[in-house]
Amino acid sequence: MYKAATAARYTHDPAGFKIVELPRPVLTTATQVEIIVHAASLNPIDFKRAEGMISIALPEPFPLKLGYDVSGVVTEVGSGVERFKVGDRVYGRVHAEHVGTIAEYVVAEESALAPIPDSVGYEAAAAVPLAGLTAKQALEAAGLQSGQTLFVSGGMGGVGMFALALAKLHFGAGEIITTVSTSKIDKAREMGATRVVDYTKEDYTQVLDSVADVALDTIGDATFYKVAKPNANAVSVAMLPDGNALDHFRQETVPLSMLGSVKLAVAKTVVNCAGWFLTRGFRAKNVRYSFIVLRCDGEDLERSFNPLLASGALCPVISNTYPFTDEGVRAAFTESRAGHATGKIIIKVKD
Ligand SMILES: NC(=O)c1ccc[n+]([C@@H]2O[C@H](COP(=O)([O-])OP(=O)(O)OC[C@H]3O[C@@H](n4cnc5c(N)ncnc54)[C@H](OP(=O)(O)O)[C@@H]3O)[C@@H](O)[C@H]2O)c1
Repeated sequence: MYKAATAARYTHDPAGFKIVELPRPVLTTATQVEIIVHAASLNPIDFKRAEGMISIALPEPFPLKLGYDVSGVVTEVGSGVERFKVGDRVYGRVHAEHVGTIAEYVVAEESALAPIPDSVGYEAAAAVPLAGLTAKQALEAAGLQSGQTLFVSGGMGGVGMFALALAKLHFGAGEIITTVSTSKIDKAREMGATRVVDYTKEDYTQVLDSVADVALDTIGDATFYKVAKPNANAVSVAMLPDGNALDHFRQETVPLSMLGSVKLAVAKTVVNCAGWFLTRGFRAKNVRYSFIVLRCDGEDLERSFNPLLASGALCPVISNTYPFTDEGVRAAFTESRAGHATGKIIIKVKD
């Protein structure tokens, strides 16, 4: 048996989350590893999933296990595992079928994991995977080139913070412009922003009219095309997903019923139609738009982040660290749902 943070039913209230004892997960393929968890970080998908927002694509059995991001130590390896051995320190964003990282143990595919550099602690490592990979893959999909001007909204949220840092350290962007609320201005500059707009005092779409070669939206604002130059690339990770993005949450081991398949097809059609309507401003300005969905990839994580973490060039900002208790988990989700964290929210499971 092991302890895991769970929700007994879909709920908007973190008071419904509880740490319970469950049968310990087992390796089901030769390419999996078991990890003893030291830290997990929260992402908005954790509370959205607990609210039932992706239940059409992924109808899961209860209790729902919580958490996608993990850092810890490998305790068991499958016979086909090549990159890790027992005792290795690893971090990653687990695949949908292994969700449940806010727990004493988790099983993960080795392909989801990267080694933690020696100089990096478990909490900093747990902060990176989901938000960091999303930022990296979004900027890559947008084709950000050295010297270009980048706009990122929500520059001190999880995704925004990594986008600022990567724009400077990995992509070599020229000007890096972001929006934050007043108390986060200095932190955004420390992460790499060269120009910061306080969105509580100014309308960023007016003061930043047509400045960006590449624009990344992390707050779900369909007017962000206004900051992009005509013919620029704009990507969002937070607007209404397109229909294909819903497939990202599918888990083949959880088959859909006939009714479930119909519901998913209807949901995809509805979001595609709504998305077409929402993005009419982009088309009118000739701004190329796409919605980006994270691809879980341990080798990308290692390649993109390990050198920056190991050298100390990238130090993820931690908003708060909570203990692995009922109260700690509930408080962490309450902060995440409020949507105003500065950097990442961590749950420390083990010293
Ligand atoms: N598509 C994907 O694969 C993918 C992957 C990761 C995340 N996401 C989505 O991306 C979004 C952001 O995720 P996250 O992890 O960065 O969330 P987060 O850590 O909760 O950060 C949210 C940030 O948004 C800022 N914010 C709120 N309203 C704002 C506004 N009007 N203007 C500027 N900033 C504002 C908040 O700062 P203030 O206190 O300054 O308001 C906060 O720092 C979520 O919707 C998440 O579900 C999608």
